[in-house]
This record gives sequence, structure tokens and C-alpha cells, in this order.
Amino acid sequence: MSVQDRVVLITGATGALGQATSRVFAQAGARLALTGRSEGSLQELAASLGLPGDRLLTHPADVTDAASVDGLVKQVLAGLGQVDALLHVAGGYRGGKAVADTELDDLDFMLGLNLRSAFLVCRAVLPHMAEQGWGRIVAVGSRSAVQPARRSGVYAASKAGLIALIETIAAEVKGTGITANAVLPSTIDTPANRRTMPKADFSKWVPPAQIAAAMLYLCSDEAASVNGARIPVYGQA
Ligand SMILES: NC(=O)c1ccc[n+]([C@@H]2O[C@H](COP(=O)([O-])OP(=O)(O)OC[C@H]3O[C@@H](n4cnc5c(N)ncnc54)[C@H](OP(=O)(O)O)[C@@H]3O)[C@@H](O)[C@H]2O)c1
Repeated sequence: MSVQDRVVLITGATGALGQATSRVFAQAGARLALTGRSEGSLQELAASLGLPGDRLLTHPADVTDAASVDGLVKQVLAGLGQVDALLHVAGGYRGGKAVADTELDDLDFMLGLNLRSAFLVCRAVLPHMAEQGWGRIVAVGSRSAVQPARRSGVYAASKAGLIALIETIAAEVKGTGITANAVLPSTIDTPANRRTMPKADFSKWVPPAQIAAAMLYLCSDEAASVNGARIPVYGQA
């Protein structure tokens, strides 16, 4: 299973899962294009990876903004020459309210961060991948999208939309050398989750590196036949 020298664009690279993913792919020999909103956090992450300049590029971008995303992909192509894989890790959660009590702003925020962003980043890399006849797209969904629970309606709906988008792309790229898949984590073992749920059994949560390992497989040549999958990564919960 190799991603040696592949150029891998990781959105949300500065977050908990994004950092773990960046490390796993750096260790696997990929060339990395890392993005998030904070330039400082990107610099910090880049320094910790210890990759030479010709194997690593950072570029801050807002993944909900079309011009920003197009600018990002342009920079990656100019700096590293290609985009072989897109890992769309950026995303987030807003919830805690029943649908009847949810503000329109909550819906718009979730659709923007989780669905619009996926649409924009996939749309920006697909023409390039089609041209080179090889590509891997992996988006981070959520267990909530397929097993919705109470009080997370707009989050679940936004991630369900992301999965539908990925499955549509999978159908559209069939036979082109490109694949598109989604990984669906349940609760990830992150510092933020530990702070929010201090009494939970952390051993039941998913270690971020294990989600990254699933993404690594999906980006390999060996996964060429895996297209349109929604892979549960639920830990022991
Ligand atoms: N944590 C969980 O338990 C869990 C469970 C299931 C699914 N997921 C999904 O897994 C993914 C990663 O979760 P996480 O816990 O690692 O999240 P996180 O630590 O909050 O990181 C989120 C990342 O997304 C970036 N980001 C947020 N808004 C952005 C925007 N508008 N433009 C560009 N980048 C933006 C953040 O960068 P800045 O900090 O610079 O804004 C950060 O790098 C998300 O898609 C999340 O929905 C998480």
C-alpha cells in the first residue's frame, strides 16, 4: 500500500484528525499540501512534520468560499505540480437542539461547512484529476449521517449531503482512474471531545490515526476498485 510521492491535499489539516492524517501520510512518503484557515497553525504543523520544502506546501484558505478554494488548488498545482489525492477533512459540528428549536443560521452554517465545502473542493480538483487519469477523493462524513440521533439534525443532514455528493462523484468518475469514497467516524478521540465529555470511556472512541489509516488505504493503488464506499470507522462504540 503506497502513496509514495503522491501529492495529497488535506483540508482541515490543522484540526485534530487533520494533524494525525498529515503525520500518517507524511510517514507514508506522500508530498503534502496542507490547508486550514490559520496561517500560524499551518506553520506550526509544517514545522512538526520535518518535510523538506519541495515535499510540503501550506496555504490558508476558507473552504466555504469558491474563490478561496480555487486559489488554493491553483497554488498547489503551481507549487507541487499536481493533486493526486484530496482528503476533505475540514468540517465541524453545531447541534444540541431539536429540529423545532434549531435556528436557520445553524442549518446554513452546517450546510456551508460540511456540504458546500465538499462541493467546492471536489469541483476544484476533479478537472485536474481527470486530465491526469488518476485521482483519489476521500471525504470525512459521520456516523450521524447514516444513524441520525436526536438533537443533531442539521449536522446529520449536512454530512448525509456530503455522502450523497461523494457517491454521485463516484458514479461520474467510474472508469477514469479516479475514485471517491467517504469515511464515517463516530466519536473521535480528540482533546476537544475529552474536554466536552470528561466522563466518557475514551477507549471506546476512534483514535484519529486509525481513520487516517483507512484514508491511506483508499488512496493507494490497491484500492482502485473501491469507489463510492461509505466506510464506518466506529471504534468500540
Ligand atoms: N470530532 C469528532 O468526534 C468527529 C466525529 C465524526 C466526524 N467528524 C468530522 O471529522 C472532521 C475533522 O474533525 P476534527 O474533530 O478534527 O475537527 P477540528 O479539530 O475542529 O478541525 C477542523 C478543521 O477544519 C478547519 N476549518 C474549519 N472551518 C474551516 C473553513 N471555513 N475553511 C477552512 N478550514 C476550516 C479548521 O481550521 P481552522 O482551525 O484554521 O479554522 C481545522 O483544521 C470534520 O469533518 C468533522 O465533522 C468529527
